[in-house]
This record gives sequence, C-alpha cells and structure tokens, in this order.
Amino acid sequence: MTTDTTQPDNPAWTDDDLSENPHENADKATRVQKMFSAIAPSYDLNNRVHSMGRDQAWRRAAVKMAGLQPGDDVVDVACGTGDLSVAFQEALWRNAQCGTVIGIDFTYEMLTVAKSKIPEDWIDGEGDCDLTYFQGDAMNLPLPDACCDVVSIAFGIRNVADPGKAMAEFYRVLRPGGRLIVLEFSLPKNPLLLAGYNVYFKHIMPRTATLIAGDKSGAYKYLPKSVNTFIDREGMRAMMTDSGFTKLKHKALTFGIAVCYRGVKQ
Ligand SMILES: C[S@@+](CC[C@H](N)C(=O)[O-])C[C@H]1O[C@@H](n2cnc3c(N)ncnc32)[C@H](O)[C@@H]1O
Repeated sequence: MTTDTTQPDNPAWTDDDLSENPHENADKATRVQKMFSAIAPSYDLNNRVHSMGRDQAWRRAAVKMAGLQPGDDVVDVACGTGDLSVAFQEALWRNAQCGTVIGIDFTYEMLTVAKSKIPEDWIDGEGDCDLTYFQGDAMNLPLPDACCDVVSIAFGIRNVADPGKAMAEFYRVLRPGGRLIVLEFSLPKNPLLLAGYNVYFKHIMPRTATLIAGDKSGAYKYLPKSVNTFIDREGMRAMMTDSGFTKLKHKALTFGIAVCYRGVKQ
C-alpha cells in the first residue's frame, strides 16, 4: 500500500468550519496554505476541466486589460502554478520583446509546479530567465517601493487573509501610472444562470474536483463557499478605491462567472 504524503491527515476545512464564513476564520491563512499544498499536483487539471477550458481565456483577458508597454515589469501575486505569469511573459515577448515577470506565492508546492512549467528555451546559458518565482506573502511583499508597472492577482485576493492589507502592498510596489489587475470569481447576475451555476458550483464541481484531486483537504468545498461569502463587484471596486487606485474598470467574463478589474496608481 502506498501513502499519499501530499494529503493532510486532518483536513484544512471541515464541513463544520465551512458552516461559518471562511473569510472570518482566524486561521484562514494557515488553512489556505495547507489546502493548496494538498491540491497543487492536480490544480491545473481541475481548472481546465471545471472551467471547461475557459480559465486560460480569462487569464488572457487579464493580460489584455493590463495594457502592457515595452519593458514593463510585472509582479504576479498569488501566482500559484504560474499560468498567469507565463501568459504575461509570453505577451511581453510577443508585443515588446522585453520585460520581466516575478511570480510570488506563499505555497511552496504550488511554486514547485510553476517552476517545472518554465520552458527550457526560456532559460539562458547562465540559468537566468526573465520569469522568476519567489515564495512570499501578498500582505508583506518582499519587494521595494515603486518597483513594477503591473501587479496582477488571479483567483488569489479571495484567498488572502486580509485583502485590504494586500491591496495596500500592491499600491506600494507599483510605480506611478502602474496598473493593478485583479481576476476573481463572481456570480452571474441573471437569476436563471445563477440558479444553474449554483447547482454546478455547489453540488457537482465539489464532488468531481475532489475525485480528480484525490483530495482530503476540503479545498473544493471551500471554493464555492469562499466565492459566495466574498465581497461582490461593488465591494471589490470600493476596496480598490480605498487603497488609492483610480480610473477603475471592470469586465465580466463568461456570463459573469469571473470578473477582471483594473485600477491605476496615480
Ligand atoms: C486559486 S490559486 C490561484 C493561482 C493562480 N493565480 C491562478 O491563476 O491559477 C490561489 C493562490 O493564492 C495563494 N495565496 C493565498 N494567500 C496568499 C498570500 N497571503 N500570499 C501569497 N500567496 C497566497 C495560494 O497559495 C494559491 O496558490
């Protein structure tokens, strides 16, 4: 018999924990990290299957909203397995032939997957690459003030223990004129679509995703609960404004299942 060492003996989220608002849980950061360490190996597959392939299109939309300029430095916070970081790096090379991307996440196992996905021909003879990954906390970024042109966070801000604190960090590390791009799940506004989506998201996806991941962490029960209890679109815009961002725009994607927000540091 083999033992799956990536799966915790005790789950990150029990049904009992999730009967309350997970965003108010005092141990949210520890539980979120434990959950992502457990599901890291199958995270990408679950994303593709359960978004029916839309997740990569949402990331491309996020890159487009960033309005990249030649030589831009991008910081992709809560980068996870690196899909958005890679999309940024590809776009920088395609459009401008230069620019760097730093992916930051606090879960070691997610970064291990991200690093394994850097194409070999992106690494030069000295082992350097314009795309680099670091372990770090969104609420205390290991970066100097005004060091980048774009900060992005995809499906991450909802998972951060104190999103307002992370927003303040995003503002701090951006140069004046820099853009913040937030991609996050939302709920369809159309009541019929919302009803259908909730059946899928609350009852079907948690079972199939748990099966694919062989997950015991409770990650795919936490997912719908965390989306349904997180701030709505107006709340996200208000948080961005309160953090100092201006020229706010947002775009609903795939019937409003995901929303991409953009704000500018003056
Ligand atoms: C749903 S995944 C998103 C990954 C990736 N951005 C994507 O588009 O697939 C959320 C990520 O947020 C990370 N995360 C949550 N809180 C964090 C924090 N305080 N600092 C850094 N990363 C955090 C988790 O480790 C996880 O990798």
